[in-house]
Order: sequence, then C-alpha cells, then structure tokens
Amino acid sequence: MGLAIWFNWRRGALIMASQSFRRLLFLSPPLLVLIVMGVILVVSVRNRSRFNPAAPRPETVQDEKKVQQKTESEFVEQRRKMVSSQIEARGVSDQSVLTAMRKVPRHQFVPPDWQTYAYRDSPLSIGHQQTISQPYIVALMTQLARPNSKSKALDVGTGSGYQAAVLAEIVKNVYSIEIVEPLANTARKRLKKLGYENIEVRHGDGYQGWKEHAPFDVIIVAAAPDHIPQPLIDQLAPGGRLIIPVGDERRQDLLVLEKRPDGTIHRRKEVPVAFVPMTGEARKKK
Ligand SMILES: C[S@@+](CC[C@H](N)C(=O)[O-])C[C@H]1O[C@@H](n2cnc3c(N)ncnc32)[C@H](O)[C@@H]1O
Repeated sequence: MGLAIWFNWRRGALIMASQSFRRLLFLSPPLLVLIVMGVILVVSVRNRSRFNPAAPRPETVQDEKKVQQKTESEFVEQRRKMVSSQIEARGVSDQSVLTAMRKVPRHQFVPPDWQTYAYRDSPLSIGHQQTISQPYIVALMTQLARPNSKSKALDVGTGSGYQAAVLAEIVKNVYSIEIVEPLANTARKRLKKLGYENIEVRHGDGYQGWKEHAPFDVIIVAAAPDHIPQPLIDQLAPGGRLIIPVGDERRQDLLVLEKRPDGTIHRRKEVPVAFVPMTGEARKKK
C-alpha cells in the first residue's frame, strides 16, 4: 500500500517536471540555445585547464627539468662509450683529442629526430644532401693534424659545425668555411649558442682557403676534390699540416701533407675514406 502511494507520487512528479520543462523550452527556444552553449563552454574550459600542456604548473616544470638532466647524463655516458669503443679502440690516443670528443655534445649538431643516433659509429644526414662525419673520422683527422693550444686552424666544409667545435676545444682559433649558405648560417648560430667564441664561420668556397687569416697551422678538409687545391698548400704555415680526402666521388685516400720549415711538402696516404665531393671551384678545375 505504502509502496503504491510512493510509486504513484514519483510518477506524477516526473510527468509534471517533464511537462514544465517542455513548456519552458516551448515558450523560450533561445533558452535551449543558451543552455547548450553554456554546457559547451563549461566543458571546454575544464578540458583546457586539465590538458593544456602550456599551462605552467610547478611540478610539471620540475619534472621536465629532471627528464632533461637525465637525458643529458645519458648523452654524457653515450659519449664516453663512443670514445672508448669507436675511437680509442681504433688507435686514436692523443689525450687532447679524446677529451674534446668526450666533451662536444654531438647530439646538438644533428637534427632533433636524429639525436638518438648521434653517438652511433656512422655519419648522419644534416640536410641539403650533406652529412656530419663519423665520430672516428673526426677524431682521426684531428689527431693527424697535431693541433695545440697555440694553433690557428682552417676547417673546410663546416657542415653541422661539429668538426669546428672539436678543433675549438684544442686550438686558439678556428676559421670555418661552408659552401651551402643555410648550413653555414645554422652552424654559426649553433656554435654561438653552445658558447664557442673562438670559431668564425663564413659562407663561401673553401677551395680558395681564407687568405685574410692565413697562414694556418692546421687545415682540415671534409669534402673531397680530385686534386689538392693549391691555395690550401699556399696558406699552410711552415710546420703546418693539411688533412684532406682526395679521389673520385665514391672513394678517396685521406692524405696528410706537411709543410717543412724550408717550404717543401711531405705527403703521405693515411686510409681509404668516402667523403662527399667538394663542389665549387674544385669541379671547374677538373
Ligand atoms: C662531410 S660534410 C662536413 C661535415 C662537417 N665537418 C661536420 O662536422 O658536420 C662536408 C661539407 O663540405 C661542404 N662543402 C663541399 N664543397 C665545399 C667547398 N668547396 N667549400 C666549402 N664547403 C664545401 C658541404 O656542403 C658539406 O657541408
């Protein structure tokens, strides 16, 4: 009996409520629009504050810093391994070169998508059909050039700026030339951001060297001509060394040229290598 009364009362109340709601909407259609808009607004504001990654929240910023620190220390470890397994293991032993290779953050010299592969035993693409050289080759060329803290170095083929940075850790000044203008501009900005104040990057043809800053104690060339550019030999200081790949488009020999104090040139082949071809003047003078 009690249950039947409660049931009938509840049914009556529901009918009344739905009738008055329908009447309300019937009398005022704009009210329906307002209600719907209000609901959409509330839901979107709540979602934005919950999911907007740009909204600064102290714990998120702190977490991000921790992740960055962790990633940086992982890169330090990857560099340590790269030096011991790819470089020392192959016979590079100059301590200043090994220290520089452990220090320069190679992952900052490759496009973001390639950072995970930055410490692999291979060259990597840097865009414009160019590459950052294999870590071992960078270390070998640097060691062969015998740089010291008083040296002035010329780096032909800036590319990413990595070789210039490795040299800059050891020598007094580095002058670096790149023939692809966007690469030169990006490398210049990158090296500045990383705090290298002893590197100057110029867009131009490295075949001609950099007369204004010659003579150089060290010249490292990272693009292969089919002959040795005479301006580079001329701009070598007495006692200076030129490290250059010379050969055809597929295969070259890495040559070491030393200018003796009397001006004579001593030349020897080091290892077979595969660099990108030198463009510009080098192609015209074939
Ligand atoms: C193997 S990549 C250089 C790698 C670079 N050393 C690095 O650490 O990223 C060779 C570079 O030489 C540049 N290059 C080719 N011919 C050149 C020339 N005549 N003068 C200057 N740069 C040249 C290419 O554009 C390319 O960026």
